[in-house]
Amino acid sequence: MRSSLFSSILLPLLIVGDLVQAYSSYANDFVDPNFVVAGKFGNNTLAAQATILQWAEDSATGGPWSVTQKNVTAPSGDIHDYMSWAPYWWPDCSSVGNTTELTPEQIWTTCPYVSRDGKFNPDGRLINDVGNFQSLSDAVLYNSIAFALTSNSSSSYSQTTVNYIKTWFLDDATKMNPNLNYAQMERGPDGQIGSHTGILDLKGMAKVVTAIEILRKTNCTDWTSDLDNEMNTWTTQYIAWLESATISLEEEAAPNNHGTFWYNQVAALKILVGDNAGALNVTTTYFATQYMSQITSTGEQATVRTRPYHYHAYNLAAMITNARLSTYLGDASVWNKTTNEGSTIKTALDFAMTLNAAATGEAAYADELYPNIAAVGAVYGDPDGKYAAFLLNADPTYAEEADFLWDQPLAGGEAESTALLHASGTSTAGAKATPGAAITNNNGAEFHSANWVLGACVLASLQYAFLL
Ligand SMILES: *[C@@H]1O[C@H](CO)[C@@H](O)[C@H](O)[C@H]1NC(C)=O
Ligand SMILES: *[C@@H]1O[C@H](CO)[C@@H](O)[C@H](O)[C@H]1NC(C)=O
Ligand SMILES: *[C@@H]1O[C@H](CO)[C@@H](O)[C@H](O)[C@H]1NC(C)=O
Ligand SMILES: *[C@@H]1O[C@H](CO)[C@@H](O)[C@H](O)[C@H]1NC(C)=O
Ligand SMILES: *[C@@H]1O[C@H](CO)[C@@H](O)[C@H](O)[C@H]1NC(C)=O
Ligand SMILES: *[C@@H]1O[C@H](CO)[C@@H](O)[C@H](O)[C@H]1NC(C)=O
Ligand SMILES: *[C@@H]1O[C@H](CO)[C@@H](O)[C@H](O)[C@H]1NC(C)=O
Repeated sequence: MRSSLFSSILLPLLIVGDLVQAYSSYANDFVDPNFVVAGKFGNNTLAAQATILQWAEDSATGGPWSVTQKNVTAPSGDIHDYMSWAPYWWPDCSSVGNTTELTPEQIWTTCPYVSRDGKFNPDGRLINDVGNFQSLSDAVLYNSIAFALTSNSSSSYSQTTVNYIKTWFLDDATKMNPNLNYAQMERGPDGQIGSHTGILDLKGMAKVVTAIEILRKTNCTDWTSDLDNEMNTWTTQYIAWLESATISLEEEAAPNNHGTFWYNQVAALKILVGDNAGALNVTTTYFATQYMSQITSTGEQATVRTRPYHYHAYNLAAMITNARLSTYLGDASVWNKTTNEGSTIKTALDFAMTLNAAATGEAAYADELYPNIAAVGAVYGDPDGKYAAFLLNADPTYAEEADFLWDQPLAGGEAESTALLHASGTSTAGAKATPGAAITNNNGAEFHSANWVLGACVLASLQYAFLL
């Protein structure tokens, strides 16, 4: 069962727009588009397929999104520039010697900003480019898969996917400039420029690339060659920025989750522009550098200092995404690659499963680890049934999760996946999911809605960055 507990640190961002999202927003993922397009899914995934159709609709609510929707313009004066503000920084106007009350805009530029550890400045709600991009990445991920599950050429799912991608990246009136110069920006006279932690804001590019690859490989008629060319041009420019901007190079070098997610983004984007050799170079570089010192001999992730449960799950999701990208690019050996202390991604997962989220005040994050368990169970197998048992105990309806479709066979084979499904009371009978005819389970119960927290990890990782 999903938890809807929110910590006080996370609550402020949630007040932007819809309070609770009725779908899971995985920390990150790359879903093999060939697997999705081939459509060879076991009957044990029918509930997951139905969930994806439902989440396609739920996640599309509120879109399309665009950086031009914010009421505040970046210091460049260009509304097409992406912007987010460093969330725990507050103005100290005591030294500016004003004689009349300052406007918000004057405060943002003239008052020095000081960090109040972990105290969210609520004026950050004026800008939600980061939350909107996360919404976009989830909407296109679920809508593209829902399209592939139900149609060969065009459907409302593919139209939504294409419309949202066009609005965010391509349409003249609404497109984002291909840079993150103002991401996680500090304000005040010493600020007005993005910081490297802001590159993380667009980690969901791995989901966007999954969606576009599905549109391409299904020959979706909504994804025209003109759009494909425009997206390639945009992405080529953005990659050039990512490979040259100082703040991006700092993020690339970050030893913690920030570095891991940087590789997710750049490898996925290189796949998008057809540079698979370059993409493989990116993932191979990750597994030769940061990865080597990220997991200790016991499976602990070395750089974690606070909120250990969340950070173990969060960086694992990024490591798994790099491994999935590498596998797609032809090198699955990274799953067995050992760190300097002899550990693998599986060792890291096994350690994370021993952590008690509640014991460190992180009960709200408990289900963040579950997709990682499903992924590891699917890749490495589950001879002693440990992973299936954990998931069954933690969430008896796990077979209704979207990722149950692509984390197959979940645990040691389809038999165990099917057992997991039966435990959730869901029928294995029935045909492939069809649009508008979502499959219901034997209990007549509605598929659960996950209440994952919008922007939680972005905020959390910022706080983490400040502590390093
Ligand atoms: C500026 O000055 C006015 C009048 O002295 C004062 O009321 C106000 O609090 C000061 N600060 C800001 C940020 O306007
Ligand atoms: C921006 O301004 C519009 C129009 O006044 C308003 O409806 C909207 O809520 C504002 N957006 C934010 C994020 O404050
Ligand atoms: C795709 O087209 C084929 C042949 O017309 C049809 O049998 C199949 O059901 C279609 N697939 C989907 C997902 O609609
Ligand atoms: C898409 O088109 C290509 C080229 O015509 C073809 O080889 C491929 O099989 C098509 N894919 C699907 C899923 O129909
Ligand atoms: C990646 O490409 C660069 C530039 O060509 C090269 O120097 C480097 O060795 C490559 N790294 C890997 C891991 O292939
Ligand atoms: C990892 O190593 C095991 C044991 O040698 C082997 O069975 C498995 O196929 C390897 N996995 C990959 C993805 O190379
Ligand atoms: C899936 O279910 C259908 C309909 O009940 C059945 O015909 C088919 O044999 C099942 N496939 C597998 C692999 O169990």
